[in-house]
Amino acid sequence: MRTQVAIIGGGPSGLLLSQLLNKAGIETVVLERQSREHVLSRIRAGVLERGTVDLLNQAGAGDRMAREGHPHHGCYLSSDQQMIRVDFQEACGQTVMVYGQTEVTRDLYEAQDALGATHIHGVENVVLHDLKTDSPYVTWDKDGQTHRLDTDFIAGCDGFHGVSRRSIPDDVRREYEKVYPFGWLGVLSETPPVCDELIYANHPRGFALASMRNPMLSRYYIQVPLTDKVEDWSDEAFWAELKARLPTGVAANLVTGPSIEKSIAPLRSFVSEPLRWGALFLCGDAAHIVPPTGAKGLNLATSDVHYLSQALLAYYGTNDSSGLDGYSHQALARIWKAMRFSWSVTTMMHRFPEHSDYDQQMQRVELDMLATDPTARKLFAQNYTGVPL
Ligand code: APR
Ligand code: PHB
Repeated sequence: MRTQVAIIGGGPSGLLLSQLLNKAGIETVVLERQSREHVLSRIRAGVLERGTVDLLNQAGAGDRMAREGHPHHGCYLSSDQQMIRVDFQEACGQTVMVYGQTEVTRDLYEAQDALGATHIHGVENVVLHDLKTDSPYVTWDKDGQTHRLDTDFIAGCDGFHGVSRRSIPDDVRREYEKVYPFGWLGVLSETPPVCDELIYANHPRGFALASMRNPMLSRYYIQVPLTDKVEDWSDEAFWAELKARLPTGVAANLVTGPSIEKSIAPLRSFVSEPLRWGALFLCGDAAHIVPPTGAKGLNLATSDVHYLSQALLAYYGTNDSSGLDGYSHQALARIWKAMRFSWSVTTMMHRFPEHSDYDQQMQRVELDMLATDPTARKLFAQNYTGVPL
C-alpha cells in the first residue's frame, strides 16, 4: 500500500487531519487500534473554542454542531458562596460552543465516510520505520498478517499512550511534566443542568465543576484524592459532595439522578518537544496533555491539526516546505500558552495537600481580581475562549 500521509490514531486529531487533507485532495490512511464503536464510546469534555468551531466547519463537519451545539457567552467561578461571572462577549468579544467531543468524533466519522476515506481499525503492533529518510513506512499486524504502508509523511495522532512520540529517540525528546496530587471524579446524568453556564467551584472541601452536554444531559466533576476508586463513590455520596461544594443557592436547584457514566481521571500537564522528527509530526494528546480545568485538550489538538494541515497543503500545493519546517515551533508557541492557562486555573481552583495559608490567600486574591478587575477577566476570557491561531 502507498499513501501521501499515514495517520496513526483515529481520535479527534487523526480524524480532523484526515478530513482536512482529503477535502484538499491529499490521500491519507488512518490506522486505528480500536474499533469505531470504542472510539465513539469515550466521554470527553465538550467546550469548543471559536477556532475549533471554524475548523470543523471548514472540514465540512459542522452542520449538526450548528444545530445541536450551545453557544456560551460566559462562565462562572465560585468561591465558597460567591459567584463570579466572566462575560466572554463583554471581555473579549468571543464565545465558546458547548458540544460533546463524542459528537465531534461522530460528525468527523460521517464526513470521512462521505469522502470514502480509508480507515483501518483493529491494527496492532504499529511500527514507524525510516523516519529520517525520504521513504518512511509503517507496518502493523492485523488478522494474523503483517502489513506495510509506504508514505511521504506520518502524523502521530495516537494519543498519550501511542507509539508515535516514543518513535522519536529518547536523546532527542525533551519532556516536561507536572502530575497533580488529585483526580476528577466525573458523573454523567440524564438531568437538567444546574445552571445555564458552566460553574468552576473553589471550595474548602475541594474543586467541583458543573457542566452539561444538552438541556437533559449534565456533566459534573468533583476533585478527589488519587487513592479514591470509582466504587468508593455511590451516586448519593457524589451528589451530596457536589452540593456541599456549590454555592447554597445553586445547590438548591441541583436535580440529581442515576449516573449513566462515572469515572475518575488523574490530572497532569505534559509536553514533549520537538513535535517533528523527520517525516513524523505529532498532533494532539500524542504531544501534550493538559489538566481538563481549562477545557483545552480537544482545542489544542485542533490547533495542532490546523498548523499541520496548512503546512501539508502548502507542500503538496506549491512545494513549499516552510510550514513543515516551522510546524513544531509554531504549534509549541500556542501549546505552551494553553499549558500556562490550564495550570494557572487548576492551581487557582483546587485544594492542594501541600498548600500553605499563604497559598490559600493567593487563590483568594486571584479570584478577587477576577471579581473586581476587568483586565483580569479579559485575560481569563481571552485564554478560555482561545488565543488566536
Ligand atoms: N496504533 C493505532 N492507534 C492508536 C495507537 C497505536 N499504537 N495508540 C493509540 N491509538 C489510538 C487510540 O485508540 C485513540 O483512538 O489513537 C487515538 C488517539 O485519540 P485521543 O487519545 O483522543 O487523542 P487525540 O485524537 O489527540 O484527541 C485529543 O481527546 O483524549 C481526548 O482529552 C483529549 O480532548 C483531547 C482529545
Ligand atoms: C465537560 O463538560 O466535560 C468539561 C467542561 C469544561 C471543562 C472540563 C470538562 O473545563
